[in-house]
Amino acid sequence: MKKNSFAGRSLSVISDLTRDEQFYLFDQVIRLKKITFGVRQGENLNPFKINDPNFGIQLIFLEDSTRTQNSFSNAAKFHGIEPGIFNVAHSSLNKHESLTDTIQTLLGYGQKIFVIRSKVEGACTWLAKAGHDFAMRNNLGFKPSFINAGDGRHEHPTQELLDEFTFWEQNGFKSGNIHIALIGDLLHGRTVHSKAEGLKIFTNVKVDLIAPKELAMPDNYLELMKNNNFELRFFGSIEEYLNQNVLASIWYFTRPQLERMGEDILRRQDELREKITFKKEFLSQISANVKFYHPLPRNKNNPEIPFWLDSMPFNGWENQSINGYLIRIILLAAFAGKIGQDFQGEIHQSKEYIENFILEKEVNPNSPQKVINEGINPIREGVVIDHICKGESPEQIWDYLIKIQSIMGLFNNGYMGVCASRQDGKIKGIMSLPKTNLSDSQIKMLAAVVPGCTVNIVKDGKIFQKLLLQSPPRIYGFDGLIRCQNEACISRPEYYENVPPEFIRRGGKGDLYRCLYCDHTHTFKKIWV
Ligand code: NCD
Repeated sequence: MKKNSFAGRSLSVISDLTRDEQFYLFDQVIRLKKITFGVRQGENLNPFKINDPNFGIQLIFLEDSTRTQNSFSNAAKFHGIEPGIFNVAHSSLNKHESLTDTIQTLLGYGQKIFVIRSKVEGACTWLAKAGHDFAMRNNLGFKPSFINAGDGRHEHPTQELLDEFTFWEQNGFKSGNIHIALIGDLLHGRTVHSKAEGLKIFTNVKVDLIAPKELAMPDNYLELMKNNNFELRFFGSIEEYLNQNVLASIWYFTRPQLERMGEDILRRQDELREKITFKKEFLSQISANVKFYHPLPRNKNNPEIPFWLDSMPFNGWENQSINGYLIRIILLAAFAGKIGQDFQGEIHQSKEYIENFILEKEVNPNSPQKVINEGINPIREGVVIDHICKGESPEQIWDYLIKIQSIMGLFNNGYMGVCASRQDGKIKGIMSLPKTNLSDSQIKMLAAVVPGCTVNIVKDGKIFQKLLLQSPPRIYGFDGLIRCQNEACISRPEYYENVPPEFIRRGGKGDLYRCLYCDHTHTFKKIWV
């Protein structure tokens, strides 16, 4: 029988599902919605239902929630399952137990799908990995699923699924063009961050970003949107947006995330809120086909979408919220392996990062070792690491020479120094290590520490092999030496979750790396402690 590609899957970020997989889930939501809301009433719902009371679903909400938590718990009940609802206040988290240990314990009690909301960013990515390792080493015989129900300012992929479904529904189930305005706290709002990858289900995407600069969309999400060929425009307020006449038909509001704001912004919240709140006098300027959406909650004292709009045709947020329940029923059914057998299309593959970043350069067999005139003694046997941090200041180069020494444990009876390159006069570092052999893994490690350097293997006084070390696709395995700069990231040592930091190079080349867990983007140098 064909393997169900949804069973045992996890959803930490929206790009964990391919476009085909998302549309498959959406098609199921349409079917379910027709039955649930009367169009095909009486039709059997059993094909959607897990109907196995021993199939454990665990909800862990470490941040407040109404819609996400209750739609998941009602979705579990739809499936005939009483979900485990984790009581944070009376849990061992208060005895300083790590979240990793807590989750692993619950896994051992038969919980198979975990829905997790946390203010710690990247928590779901990490727990999915730790959970799988636990299930394997204890022969649990199943692959647990982890669903991110919102992690700090990072992502909210199930909200994204329901938002995308709702926009698609408004578009008459066409996935071609979309023109959407994102309005509000684009800095802290995880629902709008998920849109950088989520809106890719549409072919032509125009996004108008409406926020005062204090609440503007972070650069890494803007970069993603540009790389995904979204057409972007920027406005500081709704008023400014209405001063031009190309308006989106989808207006997606988000509330100011007061709980995530620093003192400076909090002090100015009224003034900032004013720029992202819809007002009566704007009504005449928008066309009747505009729909307003909101992940909710809205602030009862200062709603971004005022209450007088509830009964007007612009109201799209109520249908959006109802779709949240249906999407979550379908997501649970898919990850439990109840539906998905008939899926045909692109299956999400975890990235392998197989790439040759150690390039071999041609060596003239007759050329003598070139370092003779560069202040470093020639060697007959060993390794010369050259072009270290070429073009940087002598102080920076020395720092790196010392770093290579300490990280790699190299430099036994060797020589190192800073000199000018004979080719272009640029300053570079050089390290000469007589009678030394570097293993393949040491060479890969060196590429992670000082990409761009060359390694000359010297035999019998001649360069035998010359390697050019490029930036590796992944930097990991340097515990204590590399660190994510995002203080809210699960991999930070202050959370005591023992998460080994790991960074993935962004894009094809260049020196930008993202944290595997929270996606925070770093320049290569910022990774190192
Ligand atoms: C959002 C969230 O928690 O990120 N709400 C939700 O899940 N429906 C939005 C918010 O809190 O502003």
